[in-house]
Amino acid sequence: MAKKEKTVAASRVRMHELVMPNDTNPLGNLMGGKLMQWMDICAAISAQRHCNRNVVTVAVDSVEFVSAVALGEVVIIEGEVTRTFRSSMEIAMRVWAENLRTGSKRLCTTSFYSFVAVDADGKPVPVCDIIPETDMEKVRYEQAEKRRTQRLEQSRQIREMAKIFQIGERPEED
Ligand SMILES: CC(C)(COP(=O)(O)OP(=O)(O)OC[C@H]1O[C@@H](n2cnc3c(N)ncnc32)[C@H](O)[C@@H]1OP(=O)(O)O)[C@@H](O)C(=O)NCCC(=O)NCCS
Repeated sequence: MAKKEKTVAASRVRMHELVMPNDTNPLGNLMGGKLMQWMDICAAISAQRHCNRNVVTVAVDSVEFVSAVALGEVVIIEGEVTRTFRSSMEIAMRVWAENLRTGSKRLCTTSFYSFVAVDADGKPVPVCDIIPETDMEKVRYEQAEKRRTQRLEQSRQIREMAKIFQIGERPEED
């Protein structure tokens, strides 16, 4: 694929989801795993908008749920590519809850998702560069390099720990 550049704005995605009974825990609040699934879909659309290839999730940075989302509220999920490397892309995610009765919106979580563009065999392929335009996009672009270094180091440490606990062996039978 010819190497070309695209703007951050071109990768921006905004999704809305209404929290239904099937999405909630026994307290009537949105389940964290369901929210992360929606975030994953939003991030995947953003990554694909940028690279126009198939993509896979390679890593998700920490996700802290700072505000519960209640049944009947609307979840607003925004994603945009902050920086690209060779085949990988970092996508910044922000999530708000909207109360439709009051019209108020509150921030629920933020995170960074990492995706890799792949070919038909699932092998990484290069993606085009991103152009940060606004001051905030430029800050996020600069900081992305540091986040990537930390992410890869953390991944290395987790793999080391997995060896100690022999994770990856066959699970024990019930
Ligand atoms: C992601 C995948 C394609 C990478 O394949 P690979 O053969 O390990 O390729 P590489 O080691 O060259 O890594 C490819 C890119 O991923 C990046 N990467 C690898 N591990 C990473 C991590 N933990 N966090 C962020 N980026 C990571 C590499 O830095 C590299 O980036 P670059 O090309 O921009 O420099 C492969 O591991 C895979 O298919 N994993 C499963 C993905 C999946 O199924 N996701 C769904 C959820 S289970």
